Amino acid sequence: MASPTDSRPLTKEAIQALLQTNTFGRTLHVLQETASTNGDAMTLAQQGAEDGTVVVAERQTAGKGRLGRRWYSPPGDNLYCSVILRRMPTPVELPRWLSVVPLMAAVAVARAVQTVTGLKPSLKWPNDILVGDRKLGGLLCESSLAGPHKTVVVIGIGLNVNTARENFPEELREIATSLASETGRPVDRASLLASLLSELETYAEALLTQPLDRLLSGYARLCSTLGRRVRVHMADGTVVEGLAESLAPDGSLRIARESASGKDLLEVRTGDIIHLR
Ligand code: BTN
Repeated sequence: MASPTDSRPLTKEAIQALLQTNTFGRTLHVLQETASTNGDAMTLAQQGAEDGTVVVAERQTAGKGRLGRRWYSPPGDNLYCSVILRRMPTPVELPRWLSVVPLMAAVAVARAVQTVTGLKPSLKWPNDILVGDRKLGGLLCESSLAGPHKTVVVIGIGLNVNTARENFPEELREIATSLASETGRPVDRASLLASLLSELETYAEALLTQPLDRLLSGYARLCSTLGRRVRVHMADGTVVEGLAESLAPDGSLRIARESASGKDLLEVRTGDIIHLR
């Protein structure tokens, strides 16, 4: 089984030697330790950093997860990276585009994982990366105004790469997994990051040139939430159950609920989903 020593250190030279992108990762900050690569990327973006700038760290001391959670970020084994996206659609298209970006970024991650390891991850809505029922990684996309009429998006990706299952903290041991645990061999993080940046660059381009409906169909094919019964913990604290029926045009999840008074469809934009059996 993989141990931490199986991971070679992430260096700028190793990553850039493998890059096949035009812009993504060409400006690259590799840090030994930071609070959160998303925080660093947002600061850089507000200082004018260019589209495709990447921050990657060996360790995060305050890695941020979705819904205000922490992201487990021990040193040396995994991938914690954030990418600055500055290319934007027109203001009219922006709200829908902003909702779809996190879903398509998850597709890009799943494709890179498949290319590098042969595994076929699925996506739990909106953007958890699963192998079977276990979580391999997650994404946190944050946006802000970087000046008048200038929106910037930071795509933050956390992937468990070489952490052995038994080394996860107890509360994660039964629900998380890593690429090394799934494949039985260590995975080179520089190769994975280079592949990830290629996929992300391709999808960033597609998000501006292809119909979002078509891109969402691609997401739906990888999404293991659709067609399942789910429990949703909504942002306002309420909990609902129903069938995850389809995606709305902005990527929200449509939940079909049945009651004595009939069927209704609820559109969930943010929430924590639990797959029910
Ligand atoms: C989730 O809760 O599933 C999202 C996790 C996102 C974690 C990544 S690690 C790199 C980037 N920096 C952060 O602080 N968070 C994201």
